[in-house]
Amino acid sequence: MSKILVTGAGGCIGAWVVKHLLDRGDEVTALDKSPERHRLESILDADALDRVRFIEGDVADLDGVRSAVETHGRDGVIHLAGMQVPSCRANPILGARVNVLGTLAILEAAAEVGCRVVYASSAAVFGPDDEPTRPHTESEAGDTRSHYGVFKLANEGNARIQFQDRGVSSVGLRPLTVYGVGRDFGMTSGPTTALKAAVLGRPYEIGFTGPTDFQLVEDVAAVFVRCLAAPEGAHVFNVHGETATVEDVVAMIDDVLEAAGLGDRRGLVTCTGPHLPIPGALDDSALAAAIGAPPRTPLRDGLARTLRAFATLHADGRLDLRDLPQEANA
Ligand SMILES: NC(=O)c1ccc[n+]([C@@H]2O[C@H](COP(=O)([O-])OP(=O)(O)OC[C@H]3O[C@@H](n4cnc5c(N)ncnc54)[C@H](O)[C@@H]3O)[C@@H](O)[C@H]2O)c1
Repeated sequence: MSKILVTGAGGCIGAWVVKHLLDRGDEVTALDKSPERHRLESILDADALDRVRFIEGDVADLDGVRSAVETHGRDGVIHLAGMQVPSCRANPILGARVNVLGTLAILEAAAEVGCRVVYASSAAVFGPDDEPTRPHTESEAGDTRSHYGVFKLANEGNARIQFQDRGVSSVGLRPLTVYGVGRDFGMTSGPTTALKAAVLGRPYEIGFTGPTDFQLVEDVAAVFVRCLAAPEGAHVFNVHGETATVEDVVAMIDDVLEAAGLGDRRGLVTCTGPHLPIPGALDDSALAAAIGAPPRTPLRDGLARTLRAFATLHADGRLDLRDLPQEANA
């Protein structure tokens, strides 16, 4: 049984990472600044939740991080705590404190304890490209259009130096459009919120269009866990799921609704707005070479699975509706 510390464990990817670690029998400590548990409660039963040790803490607090890593992260830290694109845009100073200094605190503590770190970078380290559906390799990143992307690039650099200077092994993963149960906030959360709205029979407009790399959260979380056993070094890997346009996904949601006997809801989900300033296809062959073929649920199956999960949560009166527009929420 390994002792693994998960930061940002109350978040979307974090909740699924906790689930995968519990499923393989690990001793899991969840560190998050928020006491919010709705994502964990959506996917874990009460017995599983009881097996998680919770610490409320800020990753930018070096002393707190040191103590948590030393006591609970002996066999590894999966570091997911962070502020997303809109929050970093609204408050870049706080964004830098949490995303950059917080990650450096984890890397410092890992050097002292001698454990490895798997941390969330992001596909936002890439900039726009004229060929968005050509698979992009890791080295094509750099022309990011957000403070958030700059912070993630800084983290990748700091992880590289921490291996060079102090021997800390790490893997930085770059997800793009993560979807599935628990995805309820961030620049690319619209497709998941649309599925939730469709379950309720309410209209929803996704706020971006064009190609992107859709990745089911369960698959992404499984990759984070498997990277705990990656070869030594300071690695940075793209994550790939299935490339499709948001327009394609709107059509797939209609098909999935039809197949679920909810054909009267066709047309409720629409999309509008700009393309993402990030290529829509990421090459994950370096990741596959390091850990073996990553899980890759076909997009249509992932959308259908998410719809079914939301329908079940709704039937149980447990579907969190806070990401839906207020008027639809009334
Ligand atoms: N979801 C995506 O599509 C996506 C894509 C690329 C990268 N990422 C990265 O993956 C990581 C996890 O993403 P997510 O979708 O689960 O995000 P999320 O917003 O759902 O969860 C982030 C969690 O971090 C916690 N947190 C924020 N500041 C903290 C602090 N100072 N100390 C401790 N905890 C803090 C929040 O309370 C939250 O529970 C993030 O670093 C994000 O930037 C996500």
